[in-house]
Amino acid sequence: MVSNVTIPKLRDPTLFKESAFINNEWTDKGVTERFSVIDPATDKEIGQLPDMGTQETKEAIQAASDAFKTWSKTSGKERHDLLLKWYRAMLDNQEDLATILTWENGKTYTEAKGEITYAASFYEWFAEEAVRTYGTVIPSHLPGQRFVTIKQPVGVVGIITPWNFPAAMITRKVGAALAAGCTVVIKPGAETPYSALALAELAKRVGIPAGVVNIIPTHNHVADVGKELCTNPIVKKISFTGSTNVGKLLMSQSSGTMKKVSMELGGNAAFIVFDDANISTAVDAIVACKFRGTGQTCVCANRIFVQKSVYKEFADRLVEKVKSFKIGHGFDEDTTHGPLINSKGVDKVKSHVEDAVSKGAEVLIGGKHAGGNFFEPTVLSNMRSDMQIQIEETFGPVAALFPFETEEEVVSLANDTPFGLANYFFSRDVGRCWRVAEQLESGMVGVNTGIISSCYTPFGGVKESGLGREGSQFGIDDYMHIKYINMAGI
Ligand code: SIN
Repeated sequence: MVSNVTIPKLRDPTLFKESAFINNEWTDKGVTERFSVIDPATDKEIGQLPDMGTQETKEAIQAASDAFKTWSKTSGKERHDLLLKWYRAMLDNQEDLATILTWENGKTYTEAKGEITYAASFYEWFAEEAVRTYGTVIPSHLPGQRFVTIKQPVGVVGIITPWNFPAAMITRKVGAALAAGCTVVIKPGAETPYSALALAELAKRVGIPAGVVNIIPTHNHVADVGKELCTNPIVKKISFTGSTNVGKLLMSQSSGTMKKVSMELGGNAAFIVFDDANISTAVDAIVACKFRGTGQTCVCANRIFVQKSVYKEFADRLVEKVKSFKIGHGFDEDTTHGPLINSKGVDKVKSHVEDAVSKGAEVLIGGKHAGGNFFEPTVLSNMRSDMQIQIEETFGPVAALFPFETEEEVVSLANDTPFGLANYFFSRDVGRCWRVAEQLESGMVGVNTGIISSCYTPFGGVKESGLGREGSQFGIDDYMHIKYINMAGI
């Protein structure tokens, strides 16, 4: 499957770090156990990192707590300036950061460069928010008293991020946290820690003070590190992106110390094509939405509902597009789609396809494991709601087409899931656009578009897809408390 691809050399090899980052020190902290990070396209080892555990997490939390004493007292302008420097450093090193990202995650180099731009945008956005954490003045009902509210940083934040966006899921949280005046301990995805460490190196270079950002790489002690972050009373907030099951566990662990939590969890997005839609727009959008990151994003369409009168046209045009895909190593210029992250990812995709086919779905293209961590980009037709793909996200390159007849029927099918992250639909009827957008049970809705994420807009879900909003004017509030001050004796 993978031709002999040469891994590009980093212009600045010192961005490739093989230690943890605690209190501005690159350290192994005497940890002798190391874990391997694997290139998912070749299954070859990229390198090894110290496998940190509870003790090292405690030390990182202490460093973050010490740093909070001074970082929380800096002005919004000082934090703005540093975040902006970090933003520029990311763009100045975009190619190296993208190389590290493609190597450990597998997405194409073009996509990885796009992720670095996206990731950096959160530092620019939150730099600008750092100076706008306004309070309020509340008109007093008592003559001798005045009421105001101010916003204050919550404290040390535990940040737990996934492998599917090794840079952007970190910056979306860290940008907001640092802008608010919080300090952070990050546990990056075990599969993709090198991107996180490269970001930390840039943080150090631009002058983010010691202890403000700390990174704990871990593989075999993921559960211990997560538990320490959630139960340690010094940590005041947990921000997690990942599966709903893990989110529930972290939330229950965090309840003992009543931490604030942000949970960006799994989705099961519906993508609805009504017969009054512009079909070319809808086909282009499903290609972007479904196959972004080889189908491994929480907001990827999982269930594609197409109205019966346009079903065949949509399916034929989609298959034509998918025929032009080329799977391969992310560094190969011809590759349009990279591998899945690991064999577990492949197994899940395989089992979803097999389940659908055993219940009567038709494979229009693809459908097979393509060796290693690769799976053929697939289009399935005649899907039904008793199939596994209706129930949970596939997290892989499978476009599953469900026929439907009426608006009422499809809204009910789309909402028939415990998840509510994103949904999409295509229609040119303005009345329907409002009606359906309001009825879909999700934190985000794309109308006539399949790509909705940006630093400017709120990202987050409802139902079992989570709590809180990231990015946008709302993102910083998740890292702040509102304090009410009542001043009497006036
Ligand atoms: C995710 O998959 O969790 C994030 C996707 C995005 O930011 O668009």
